[in-house]
Amino acid sequence: MTIKLLGAVSGMAIIASSAAFADGHAAPEAEVLHYWTSGGEARSVAVLQEEFAANGGTWTDMPVAGGGGDAAGTALRARVLAGNAPTAAQIKGPAIQEWYEEGVLADISEVAEANNWSGILPEAIAGHMQCDGTWCAAPVNVHRVDWIWANAEVLEANGIEMPTTWDEFNAAAETLQAAGVIPLAHGGQAWQDATVFEAVALGILGADGFRKAFVELDMDTIKSDDMIAVFDQMRTMRGYVDDNFSGRDWNLATAMVMNGEAAFQIMGDWAKGEFMAAGKVPGEDFLCLSTPGDGFLYNVDSFAMFAVDGDDKQAGQALLAELVVGESFQEVFNLNKGSIPVRTDVALDNFDSCATLSADDMAASNEGGSLLPSYAHGMALRGAQAGAITDTVTAHFNSDMSSEDAVQMLADAIANSL
Ligand code: GAL
Repeated sequence: MTIKLLGAVSGMAIIASSAAFADGHAAPEAEVLHYWTSGGEARSVAVLQEEFAANGGTWTDMPVAGGGGDAAGTALRARVLAGNAPTAAQIKGPAIQEWYEEGVLADISEVAEANNWSGILPEAIAGHMQCDGTWCAAPVNVHRVDWIWANAEVLEANGIEMPTTWDEFNAAAETLQAAGVIPLAHGGQAWQDATVFEAVALGILGADGFRKAFVELDMDTIKSDDMIAVFDQMRTMRGYVDDNFSGRDWNLATAMVMNGEAAFQIMGDWAKGEFMAAGKVPGEDFLCLSTPGDGFLYNVDSFAMFAVDGDDKQAGQALLAELVVGESFQEVFNLNKGSIPVRTDVALDNFDSCATLSADDMAASNEGGSLLPSYAHGMALRGAQAGAITDTVTAHFNSDMSSEDAVQMLADAIANSL
């Protein structure tokens, strides 16, 4: 993503902690740009809107539909280029740094320090929220990307266990296809192709190989035989989706698993938010398991505040930042969103088995060096490099391109994006 602003705002607005506005001389307000518009997502962001209002804030909602956030990113760039930035926006990963470098973000260090964010956030995640030593974004959650979701009844009816290897996945898919069940519910949108790709890549390259390829952009790994095997598996999985997959929204694919039309979906645990919103019970109606292979692909949603004038807006930014990382919000929001709290001191007693599996795997991956930033969801790379990879992945998935040609296209696309 390249953001070229005319006369970027120099310096950063310093946001006082919300306590500084406690005497009520400013009425907190915020216009918030985000892309949480599906059933589960909307229920989750409503939690934030309600808490904001309960604390005297006036929330102006600016939802931009489109899973994965590409459309929201385009809308945000247009707003900022026009000199009309929202008060806050859903921005995450290296994109936070890109916006910071344009000089348009507010400094929320006072809120972060008043609320001890350094003491309650995992170090790797806190790093994403800081810009040159200041705090420039407030983290909301930890989503895991590398999940397989399944319809429990369909699997049982076909004598299938949750796959723990890609060979087992392929064998299960063949059985399901023969039984007339769509093996893999998928939405043919580039970010969804990328989501499946990175889960497959983690399983076949391993954690170290994934880090070399998609964090370090190591060309030997990108051009390796293992990467050819990743595209081979993607070609195999292309044969497991239905004829109407192209353009399908991710939550409609989740609905296909919910209603038994399809058996599996490979998607981040925002999909669990859809199951929960429909009243489905994990372990009974649907199953969750990490995709084959060792590791944990994290995707941390966050809000960045823009350098805007006005005490009311700055009070709104302080309140929003404080609420987002607050203990009560962290539990209620993440119960709805399908993610787990980003705070390390929030008990998971009220969370389900998928969430506790995620938390356990995250801790184990952190210990084992296999806790990795999702490339498909903007945590590992800046926009140009991530986009180069995704362009290749979706071109391969939607053509008869050979794995060898895909690897060459991948290497060329990355080289041209640097
Ligand atoms: C991700 C985002 C999640 C989820 C998903 C689908 O990029 O981090 O919160 O909403 O897109 O829209």
